[in-house]
Amino acid sequence: MSLRVGVLTGGGDAPGLNAAICGLARRLLDADAELIGFADGWRGLIENRTRPLQQSNFQHLLVYGGTLLGSSGDNPYRDPARCVPAVLATIAEHRLDALVTIGGEGTLGASDRLHREHGVAVVGVPKTIDNDLAATDFTFGFFSAVEVATRAMDDLRSTAESHSRVMVVECMGRHAGWITAYAGVAAGAEAVLVPERPTDVEELCARLDRLRQGGARSAIVAVAEGARLFERGVCLSSTQRDEFGEYKTGGAAAIVSQRIEALLRWEARPLVLGHLQRAGKPIAFDRIFALRLGARAARLVLERRFGRMAAMRAGDIVDVPLQEAVAARKTLTQEFLDRYESFFLPIGGP
Ligand code: F6P
Repeated sequence: MSLRVGVLTGGGDAPGLNAAICGLARRLLDADAELIGFADGWRGLIENRTRPLQQSNFQHLLVYGGTLLGSSGDNPYRDPARCVPAVLATIAEHRLDALVTIGGEGTLGASDRLHREHGVAVVGVPKTIDNDLAATDFTFGFFSAVEVATRAMDDLRSTAESHSRVMVVECMGRHAGWITAYAGVAAGAEAVLVPERPTDVEELCARLDRLRQGGARSAIVAVAEGARLFERGVCLSSTQRDEFGEYKTGGAAAIVSQRIEALLRWEARPLVLGHLQRAGKPIAFDRIFALRLGARAARLVLERRFGRMAAMRAGDIVDVPLQEAVAARKTLTQEFLDRYESFFLPIGGP
């Protein structure tokens, strides 16, 4: 009897998801396995909703962003008493030998628990534009998002210069400043504000003022949506927490622009890049990277090595325990902050 394998994509979409599905499917279908796609992440397993997957109907989709399976932030552990039994019943009904979950910390965290607590034969594939998953050097979608943000900052230079303005560009990243840092450094931003380095807006303004005194007509400030902003010890960022106890984000670029105008009398404009960073086609690197991760996940399934995740380590595709990947969030390293120290500001808050 052929192997029956389920697959889902969960959490915020990331360019490269279709390529990962493709990489998985090519290897599994070659091995005569049957692949059952579940719609809209964990919700598809909770509600037993599937999407057909035959190689002929999706191979060409690897070039596109989004996910042909649909996604959602749903997670069986939000309401475990109801949802975990529902997921287990769907797995039993489809007689799945394995389940491949493509997602970030929420999706993979649930996968790890289902594997450890209920023996579900799970294999993970890491995905998030935020690049904040441990146990892998990078996640696919990240470099596509960095490309969008870098180009935006490059393009904004001309209008900033024409109008003698500061352009404050807000990038995604609630807890980790990877996109902001990579794009900000690549675009030569005059300042890069990330959650890992609380910032005093007076320090930022002092730097911008020095540049203006030195003859600069314009500047680019890259700010992460989750940047923690302070002024004389007072937190300007939201102090409200969401249902998971995390700081609510939103408005970082607006706050920074407003303080630059108030403190420096220098015109500033905020730009929130938002979901554009997840939109569009993946860059070629992310397509190939995702294909390779998908293929590695298929190999893990065929070798029946469950509770593991495909990953990149030092340029190689390897596999690691899922538990390692979800144990801690990967934020900007001290090494990165030290290497590009001149882009960041001194620590300006608690
Ligand atoms: O985790 C990926 C991510 O794109 C974050 O960078 C961002 O804060 C969040 O998802 C946005 O989520 P939503 O699509 O629900 O607005």
